[in-house]
Amino acid sequence: MNTSESALSGNAAAQNLELSPSELEYRLLMDNFITPEECRELIALADKYGTVGGGYGEKVGQSNSDNEVYIGYFLKESQPTEEFRKEHEVALRILNRVRKQLMKHFGLPFLWIDHAEILSREPTQPQEGAPPEDLSMDWHMDNHGPLIWRRTHTGILYLNDDYEGGHTCMKEADWGPFRELPPATGRLIGFNAVETPHAVTKVTSGKRYTMIMWFSNHWTNVRRHIKVFNPKLANALGALKRPAGR
Ligand SMILES: [Fe+2]
Repeated sequence: MNTSESALSGNAAAQNLELSPSELEYRLLMDNFITPEECRELIALADKYGTVGGGYGEKVGQSNSDNEVYIGYFLKESQPTEEFRKEHEVALRILNRVRKQLMKHFGLPFLWIDHAEILSREPTQPQEGAPPEDLSMDWHMDNHGPLIWRRTHTGILYLNDDYEGGHTCMKEADWGPFRELPPATGRLIGFNAVETPHAVTKVTSGKRYTMIMWFSNHWTNVRRHIKVFNPKLANALGALKRPAGR
């Protein structure tokens, strides 16, 4: 059965998690943030538009396991067709809902979208004799890099939980403390990207779908934000800036 047709659930142990008051200063955990129906709609988009490598090319980045298929796509700044725009109303609505929730939780006056992806991870058959892997995505920071330094906050939505592994884990420093957050359909995780090293434990079976969103409170991100949420306005502003006759 296709995952998008399944019940998307089955991990009862994942429920009833709570963060400590001190963690809540830089982390967020909310169950049932989006409905199973919304999860199914986003999974259908991932299945329809996702490509191997998720837009990053065949090697998805040094942090990702070589022993899995990574399929996904970016929520584009320029939305190519009317059909694409209509299909993505749900994704943009959820993206904005996550943005507002992070603003509220972290007490931010504003927060702009930087980038968003809908993606899946599925393990491939390990080669005979290959050493076991602990992680699907190695420890990293979401704002370390010349193209991503503006990112200040991250949101992760678990779209299904009918797979093994694929927990998001976080720590404050190399020496701990440590927190592992298992999937639950519709669960939202948020964190301060500047202070949160994180990783993904190995997906050992099944297919893990997530929507990942990065935000910024850097003022220059307003431009990208307008491109995602109001491309017509972005085009009009772009046209105003272009010299006449060129
Ligand atoms: Fe990350």
